[in-house]
Amino acid sequence: MVRLGAAWYPEQWPEAQWDHDLQLMQDAHMNVVRVGEFAWSTLEPSEGRFELDWLDRAIALAAKHHIAVVIGTPTDAPPAWLTEKYPDTLGMNADGQWRQHGERRQFNYASPRYRQLCALIVAQLARRFGQNPNVIGWQIGNEYSDESFDPSTRALFQQFLRDKYKTLNNLNHQWSTAYWSQTYTSWSQIPMKNSNENPGLLLDHKHFVTATWRSFQRAQIDVLRPLILPTQFITTNIGGLGWSDNWDHYAITADLDLASWDDYVGQGHLDVTRNAMLNDFVRGWKRQNFWVMETEPGSVNWAPVNNALWPGETRALAWQTIGHGADAVLYWQWRSALNGQEQYHGAIVGPDGEPLPIYSEIAQLGKDLELTRDALAGTGPHAKIAILHDYDSRWAIDFQPFTKDYDQEQVLLRFYQPLEKIAAANGQAVDIIDPTSSVDLARYKLLVAPSLNVISAELAAKLLAYVRQGGTLILGPRSGMKDEFNSLNPQRQPGPLAEALGAKVGQYYALEKPVQLSNPDHPTVPVTTPGVLGTADTWAEQLSIDSPAMEINAIYDDPGGWLDGKPAFVSRAIGKGLIAYLGTLPDPKLLHTFLMLSSPQVPKLVFPGQDAIEQCTRYGPSGSVSIYINHGSEAVSIPLQRPMRNLLSSNATPVSEITLPPQGVAVLVPEKTQ
Ligand code: GLA
Repeated sequence: MVRLGAAWYPEQWPEAQWDHDLQLMQDAHMNVVRVGEFAWSTLEPSEGRFELDWLDRAIALAAKHHIAVVIGTPTDAPPAWLTEKYPDTLGMNADGQWRQHGERRQFNYASPRYRQLCALIVAQLARRFGQNPNVIGWQIGNEYSDESFDPSTRALFQQFLRDKYKTLNNLNHQWSTAYWSQTYTSWSQIPMKNSNENPGLLLDHKHFVTATWRSFQRAQIDVLRPLILPTQFITTNIGGLGWSDNWDHYAITADLDLASWDDYVGQGHLDVTRNAMLNDFVRGWKRQNFWVMETEPGSVNWAPVNNALWPGETRALAWQTIGHGADAVLYWQWRSALNGQEQYHGAIVGPDGEPLPIYSEIAQLGKDLELTRDALAGTGPHAKIAILHDYDSRWAIDFQPFTKDYDQEQVLLRFYQPLEKIAAANGQAVDIIDPTSSVDLARYKLLVAPSLNVISAELAAKLLAYVRQGGTLILGPRSGMKDEFNSLNPQRQPGPLAEALGAKVGQYYALEKPVQLSNPDHPTVPVTTPGVLGTADTWAEQLSIDSPAMEINAIYDDPGGWLDGKPAFVSRAIGKGLIAYLGTLPDPKLLHTFLMLSSPQVPKLVFPGQDAIEQCTRYGPSGSVSIYINHGSEAVSIPLQRPMRNLLSSNATPVSEITLPPQGVAVLVPEKTQ
């Protein structure tokens, strides 16, 4: 079942009002609430005095309204008594300032004492609610975000490095510390910073932050797991609009049953392709469906301008996330606290407890989900195309972007956009996966690696085996420049893949303005029409060819410049597959052509020009479900390839064409499954 719900904070309201809240939720077809994640001072008003009865009553009342509960452990907001009694649990910002009580997240994620105090409250909650059939899951903390730069955490970082490198000689070698006389003669000399440090140190600091959040989380999982029902899942809600690179999302979600994230628009309106990409990105963390644990009920309070989404846009956003694999959508929040930092944030009911205008749109979504419940049960997107993404590469580039214009989210988006269209036209999705994980690459026909900056020998071997067995691999700019220590590979890019590719990067350039790409004089592949193909921008690598087996698909046209006449895009058949290297960022149309060229097995788009229409397909044991969303401002008619039934329409007759108004949604099933 795809669930619908909200973050509900009963501790902020008189108990006499709870039933009214829950009745309104039930009327809107909501069936889940998340509770408790900031309620520590109510759950444990003073040290060791636990008051959980109110939460028990709230959960029981929710059950009466057929509303299941996810409990958030309250560890993102320690109470004042804790901070006062245990100041050693406080974190330090990168600028050396100790944090203090009054906001949230003042704790030090590495503090053993803080973890112990968390374990105590979590154990109380797990003992009390771990066997409660109306509790379906647990969320640990909230949007892990602020690391600590205090002296004790620095000592842990030094120990982390010691465990990794074993000897200072080894660390000095991998970080090339002879440079600028950085050589360390004692572990305690090693600083802990997050800017302008040795790139080897910066990468290891990210690994340390990931490991520390992972052990923070593990400490709570270890308390929860033995005390809770096997049917209760454990997750955490990931913030930073999904894209944050504070730590490695693949590693953190590896220990969870379910990935969940907080999908906010902020200022402006839904950026359809970007939000599609972010949802696919989240699905890739565990390579399975996920939850949208928070989204905005029309507006937020933290953007420069907190405009409202258009009527219908909130519902369209929800359906988009479902189309990309969300199995639950929860709004933040049900009702704003009367005081506190977020008084202006969007909510579903007002301070009087009565519906705000957005309530009816969310209720419509609730109705939609009831109508589609059986069809969507057990379904999820399928992909034959994957984009390769990993945090080491992300970090390595962001530490030293070389040009401010190399925005990795935008680079990923540029590749994602045509790939998503190609995939969607085939009823498929695009996966965004970490190639260093245990994923079986053979399940994909096409792998595209826009900025795979760090390629270890091991990863190179895995990618090459994929190609030899028949896969197509397109490496994008900046691939294979670094090893796993963030050192430059002594071979030219793409480093350990250069030999097999039979081409390498002669030099890379940050572009001040776009450069033209054209067909080579003797094109070995009929790219498009002869002559100018299009433009490329931001980054350009001049490729040199080492093997006659190499095909040159595009060259730079840069009269008087370093790049003139040099290959920009090359490819080569290896074994049963193909490897290609694209050394620049072509304009969207040309990139689409290049990608189509490299994957001739994919047919053309079904609805050329109808960009406003998004089509997502989920597959399950009893067939497929197609979700069509009109994100545009005009009504659009869409011809269907076969008769389908629209589950959201009162008309049960199968149709061969649907018309969607702006923000309209149709959920279609093929006639035969009915
Ligand atoms: C984050 C937090 C919530 C709330 C929202 C507001 O997602 O997890 O507690 O502050 O932002 O948008």
